[in-house]
Parts: sequence; C-alpha cells; structure tokens
Amino acid sequence: MRKLLFVLFLPFSLMAEPNISDGKLLYGESCAKCHGTEYYQGLGMSEPNDIIELTHWVDTCSQHFNLDWNDQDIEDTTYYINREFFQLDR
Ligand code: HEC
Repeated sequence: MRKLLFVLFLPFSLMAEPNISDGKLLYGESCAKCHGTEYYQGLGMSEPNDIIELTHWVDTCSQHFNLDWNDQDIEDTTYYINREFFQLDR
C-alpha cells in the first residue's frame, strides 16, 4: 500500500516543485546575455512587483525570443531568478 501511494503521488510532486538548477541552466543559456549572470540587469521601465508579474515577464521574453519554452521551463526560471535576484513573495 505504501508503495502504491508513492507511485501515485510521485508524478504530482515532480510537477509541483520548481527545479532551481534547471532554471539556472535555462536562464544562463537564454537570458543572461541580456540580463546578466552576477546580478540581474533590469532592462525595462518597470520592476515586477510580485510573482505573477515576474512570471508574465519570463513568459513574454521567452516567447519574444522564440525559445519554445513549456510551462515547466517558465516556472523553473521564474523560481530561479526570484530566489537569486528578485526575492518577491509568492
Ligand atoms: C535580447 C535581449 C533579451 C533577452 C535574450 C531576454 N530579455 Fe528579458 N528583457 C529585455 C528587455 C529589453 C526588457 C525590457 C522590455 C520592456 O520594458 O518593454 C526585458 C524585460 C524583462 C523582464 C522585466 C523586468 C525588466 O528587467 O525590465 C524580465 C523579468 C525578463 N526580461 C526576463 C527575461 C528572461 C527570463 C529571459 C530568458 C528567457 C529574458 N528576459 C531574455 C531583453 C532581453
């Protein structure tokens, strides 16, 4: 029974938890050339005020540069840049 529960909940918990090392990789590959690696370089007029806005920007930039990112990529990268640079509350 324990094993069954584990198998049932595994995919769900994998999806729910953002992967910070994937986010770091993705950011380094596709975003750092404009926004910087040591610190985050803001390029627009407006700083995101919360996670929703930050996610929206990650989505916008990744679409604008035709990166073909899925929701998980966006979530991982948002999580990474928030932990490293923005430190916004959820
Ligand atoms: C070719 C350069 C370039 C690349 C690559 C790029 N961005 Fe941007 N990004 C910009 C510019 C320019 C703005 C400001 C746009 C505006 O304010 O209208 C911006 C805005 C943003 C913002 C809003 C806050 C701010 O800094 O103004 C975030 C967050 C962001 N980008 C994240 C990302 C992420 C994540 C990636 C990787 C998928 C990425 N960007 C890739 C140029 C880039």
